[in-house]
Amino acid sequence: MKVLVVGNGGREHAIAWKLSLSPKLTKLFVAPGNAGMADVATLVDIAAKDQDGLLKFCKKENIDMVIVGPEAPLVEGIVDRFRKEGIKIFGPTQFGAQLEGSKVFSKELMKKLSIPTGEFEVFESAEKAMDYVAKKGVPIVVKVDGLAGGKGVVVATSMPKAMEAIHLNMVKKVFGHAGDKVVIEEFLEGEEASVIAITDGTSVRLLASSQDHKRIFDGDKGPNTGGMGAYSPAPVVTDELEKEILQKVFLPIVQEFKTSGHPFKGFIYAGIMVTPRGFKVLEFNTRLGDPEAQVILPRLKNDLLEIFDAVMHENLHSLQLQWKNQDCACVVIASEGYPESYEVGKKIAGIPTAKEDPDIQVFHAATKKQDGDLVTAGGRVLNVVGLGRGIFEALSKTYNAVDKIFFDKMYYRKDIGYRATTRAAR
Ligand code: AMP
Ligand code: GLY
Repeated sequence: MKVLVVGNGGREHAIAWKLSLSPKLTKLFVAPGNAGMADVATLVDIAAKDQDGLLKFCKKENIDMVIVGPEAPLVEGIVDRFRKEGIKIFGPTQFGAQLEGSKVFSKELMKKLSIPTGEFEVFESAEKAMDYVAKKGVPIVVKVDGLAGGKGVVVATSMPKAMEAIHLNMVKKVFGHAGDKVVIEEFLEGEEASVIAITDGTSVRLLASSQDHKRIFDGDKGPNTGGMGAYSPAPVVTDELEKEILQKVFLPIVQEFKTSGHPFKGFIYAGIMVTPRGFKVLEFNTRLGDPEAQVILPRLKNDLLEIFDAVMHENLHSLQLQWKNQDCACVVIASEGYPESYEVGKKIAGIPTAKEDPDIQVFHAATKKQDGDLVTAGGRVLNVVGLGRGIFEALSKTYNAVDKIFFDKMYYRKDIGYRATTRAAR
């Protein structure tokens, strides 16, 4: 099969790497990809948002399957459009992608299906939202309805912060129409985890659980980022909890989409808060997580292309997913200053040495070739990923590999996986 992966981050590199191992694959393209992906695929210089360009390329190359990594093209309806043109594409339709693209849609769906989630109200007026917050008190969570590149959620610990968030979203419109509505949600305390399922519209298979580290500094301090590291499995997600999440979250959602005439094909990612009174769903995404994909896919024993193909042919019931009995850790190496301003164009050394250990993968997030050198090209630059027996070995292999890599002003967290190691050491 000839396959095109759309996207250019660490998640897409992990997907492309895993697909490259499939005996069913004849040719792999990524658009636009990054320098690291050139090892496993042919790079095509078309942006992920350029649907016309991608469509033309797929027709010219007779692409058998398109895999979309990031959320924006899904929310913009790439799947509907490509399907209409007769191109096989993996992922939800625009209707299904609302699960990620609209917090109002997803919260109302959860309410309808009695899926455990924080108490909430939806507001279209800043004044009413402010009155509600004044009545409820802090801490409280303010969420813009639409996509906001991971910046649309404010956990407000003071009244001025909550009011400011409402003002910025609804009056100043810092996220444009994404802020026409806001969800004000109860603050939940507990441990977060990511549970991702894949569905063909009827059958559901759970992927291995994982946890990511969203904050920039050690101890989960500082501003949110696109993710500074991750590991799989997440010890907080017990087998029992996994079953409960399947029964109470994924099966009802997939059934609901099916009966409403919009069968959902693709990934459903549930961001979970495990609280002392059980789990609650914080959010849904309709794609693989980044950096969760980087720690889940190396543990998957199955052929990923076979799984995608089973989804396309509504045949997922015939597959069981198999996981390596190893833990996987990912440390993100970023440019110092990220998530604010940082420098790019720094030469990167040491990746071949880091990859001498067969349990290590280096998935690129933002790199490019410049005059024959590999250089940094963004905030999050590399994902160093290691498999090991248990979380301690996975982390120690990963950090050993990180030590072999160098570029000027590189930054990474030193405490990835601390929740899992603390639990394991108990
Ligand atoms: P979301 O995009 O809804 O997952 O929110 C992004 C992040 O904000 C989550 O990963 C949590 O860390 C935090 N968050 C979201 N909702 C809540 C909540 N109700 N209580 C506490 N933290 C939250
Ligand atoms: N790691 C969080 C996300 O992919 O949304």
